[in-house]
Amino acid sequence: MTTEQQPRAQWLGRWGFVLAATGSAVGLGNIWKFPYMTGEHGGGAFVLVYLVCILAVGVPVMMTEIAFGRRGRGSPIDAVRRVVTESGRSSAWSLLGWMAMLCGFMILSFYVVVAGWSFSYLWKMLSGGLNGSGVDDMAAIFVANNENPFNLGFWSTLVTLVTMLIVGKGVQAGIEKSVSWMMPGMVIMLLILIGYGAFSGGFGEAWSFLFSFNTGSLSSEGMLAALGHAFFTLSLASGAILTYGSYLPEGASIGRTTFSVAIADTLVALMAGLAIFPIIFANGMSPEGGPGLLFMSLPLAFQAMPLGTLFGVLFFVMLSMAALTSSISMVEATVSWLVDNKGITRRTAAWGTGIVLWLVSTLAMLSFNLGADWTLGGRHFFDWLDYLTSRWMMPLGGLGMVLLAGFVLKSETFREELGLAPHWHVLWLFMVRYVSPLGIMVIFVDALGIARLQFGLHWPWLLAVLALITLIGELLSPRLRRTLAG
Ligand code: PHE
Repeated sequence: MTTEQQPRAQWLGRWGFVLAATGSAVGLGNIWKFPYMTGEHGGGAFVLVYLVCILAVGVPVMMTEIAFGRRGRGSPIDAVRRVVTESGRSSAWSLLGWMAMLCGFMILSFYVVVAGWSFSYLWKMLSGGLNGSGVDDMAAIFVANNENPFNLGFWSTLVTLVTMLIVGKGVQAGIEKSVSWMMPGMVIMLLILIGYGAFSGGFGEAWSFLFSFNTGSLSSEGMLAALGHAFFTLSLASGAILTYGSYLPEGASIGRTTFSVAIADTLVALMAGLAIFPIIFANGMSPEGGPGLLFMSLPLAFQAMPLGTLFGVLFFVMLSMAALTSSISMVEATVSWLVDNKGITRRTAAWGTGIVLWLVSTLAMLSFNLGADWTLGGRHFFDWLDYLTSRWMMPLGGLGMVLLAGFVLKSETFREELGLAPHWHVLWLFMVRYVSPLGIMVIFVDALGIARLQFGLHWPWLLAVLALITLIGELLSPRLRRTLAG
């Protein structure tokens, strides 16, 4: 294997990892998905559950993943294999790495289509293609944009090309360099847009929509969506964070970096809500616009406002940059695996991956036009990619990883790699053993249709079940007690 001979690339700057991982986490998930999901699931209640999921599941899983990456110093497949064999466990666990790599690739295959929407709306804003359009026109424009496979394909191909161009340049010269100006840039643009929204007259309404935690509007569907979204928005179990972690220098604190990334990601999602909803409300529109919220309602609102075109352009530039810093992270796992194992250059690996990606994403893109009738079980190829990854592969991969770390691998591995103070380590262990797995299992129970968990109003029950499982788990395994004893 070639990896063992060459030192692995590392982030150059002190902020390299945090910027790149935040770039990965902050994306269409925050600016496109989060606002419309919040709108669909009733506002503040959804936001609250989402925040709990980030803390209880997202953060522990992310720490575990980064630890796997840095310990194993490789792509998800190689890193997981090295870490499990170090503990004397079967290398079959590297299947988790395979699934993560595949998952990142599958997400990217539909992600480039949505990113393509963003690019094409930027172009429409710039070229005046939306001028003077009313509500019906906006819907028609969105449909027309999708209906022509050459048009839609052009934009998703462009996203693929730019992504591969950046990744092909390498970890430092490509990824780190591009995120180091795109991330600050997009945050500045977002702040300007919030300021703009604040003067639109809808800010108060947007604020209370996002932050009044009305538990009456909690549905079990909304909770599950929040949990699934926590995985998606933090880029978990899809190879991205693990691979970026494999470039993390020895001395960096995994706990601290994880919190920085999770906080930045959450702030951007909330900020996106504060940028978008005031404009929606100020123009008397409904927050329940679904996936079209950003592409139908928002441009319409911009139309009606002073300097709307200028700020509309700014918005879609920001969205496109956020999408790019995420898309590059989704292929990095595959590219680094190819480079390490197939003896090819990074550039060749990137373009090779790009060609396969282009083929698969073209199939996803066709779901909106030529392949509108190609459905299986009521889902288009595009929807299947989204459904399989966010409902199944990410939770399953996350579950495998926390259980490995919590019960299977030698405790020294994570004690050394995470380097946490004893009480924090016990907390992390408790989270990866019980809290995160339980949370993830809830998704499965729901997805399998075994039961619709109406636990929204029964928090005491949920806590009781958690306590019981913890008790049984600890009786069966003495490790936590040993950890406590030092
Ligand atoms: N976190 C990204 C977003 O919110 C999406 C993503 C998922 C990126 C999985 C990498 C891996 O848009």
